[in-house]
Amino acid sequence: MLQLENVWKSYRVGALGSKHLTAVRDVSLQVAPGEVLSVVGESGSGKTTIGKMVLQLTSVTRGRILLGGEDVTARRHAERKEYYRRVQGVFQDPFSSYNPIFKADRVFETVRESFRPGTGAAQWRARVEEVLHSVRLDPASVLGKYPHQLSGGQLQRMLIARALLLDIEVLVADEIISMLDASTRIDVLNLLGELKERGLGVLFITHDLSLANYISERVVIMRHGAVVETGATAKVFTDPQHPYSRNLLSSVPQLHRKWSDDPVEPEDLEPDGDRDTPPPPLREHAEQHWVAAG
Ligand SMILES: Nc1ncnc2c1ncn2[C@@H]1O[C@H](COP(=O)(O)OP(=O)(O)O)[C@@H](O)[C@H]1O
Ligand SMILES: [Mg+2]
Repeated sequence: MLQLENVWKSYRVGALGSKHLTAVRDVSLQVAPGEVLSVVGESGSGKTTIGKMVLQLTSVTRGRILLGGEDVTARRHAERKEYYRRVQGVFQDPFSSYNPIFKADRVFETVRESFRPGTGAAQWRARVEEVLHSVRLDPASVLGKYPHQLSGGQLQRMLIARALLLDIEVLVADEIISMLDASTRIDVLNLLGELKERGLGVLFITHDLSLANYISERVVIMRHGAVVETGATAKVFTDPQHPYSRNLLSSVPQLHRKWSDDPVEPEDLEPDGDRDTPPPPLREHAEQHWVAAG
């Protein structure tokens, strides 16, 4: 179980870091084993920053992150390696995770070097082939190839396979579907469904509401770094309460129907106020459904 407790993130910006920008405001969320939690919201709402904090790629300004009940907020370098056996990330642009001058399967070798140095070559090869099969890739068609010889979908699935080599508990997937073509999208989505069946918890970051609706049992809707609405996906998407959620959902045609007679114009939404002020607290609207007040 991954938990964020009242997590804040401020970035230093401006000349010599003289100002700061609060990118994440008081966010609490959980990802249980075998569950996909979607974090949705428009560009700049703080989704990637949450993923980076979970992956310890950027520090947490305030609040705590726990894995299996243990506070992992400020890990030292040595402890981080252990953490990465349990938590891994896959990002939007699969090409950026590969060095074009090396064969793509080098990403597996670096896992062996860092985490499984004692594993023999034959045994490792067997393990790599096993995870490739589990992401529905034919080892013969991807091993020994350079990144430019493979498709974005193949590269993305290899990165998921790489994460699986470590028997991780939590996968952070940040916009991993956006760059894929339609047929590969379905494959990767189905793959995530299978991984979830096997007990993996997935923090699924997306700006695509249809994807969130399709893949996740629970959803967090973010705006300006704070949670405006959260709960069971079915409830939040069929009965959105916050004006921002309604507005966001009304822009998705398939989900719109129910609300077409009750459009929320963007000007009804509060402007982007002072991000340093505490966000409105969440109140329970219904079972498995919470909405920010105000
Ligand atoms: N390294 C950084 N330094 C300063 N500001 C940043 C940095 N990364 C992100 N931000 C700002 O934090 C806010 C949230 O960004 P991000 O988490 O990337 O949002 P999202 O993934 O939802 O688009 C944005 O205003 C963005 O400009
Ligand atoms: Mg992002």
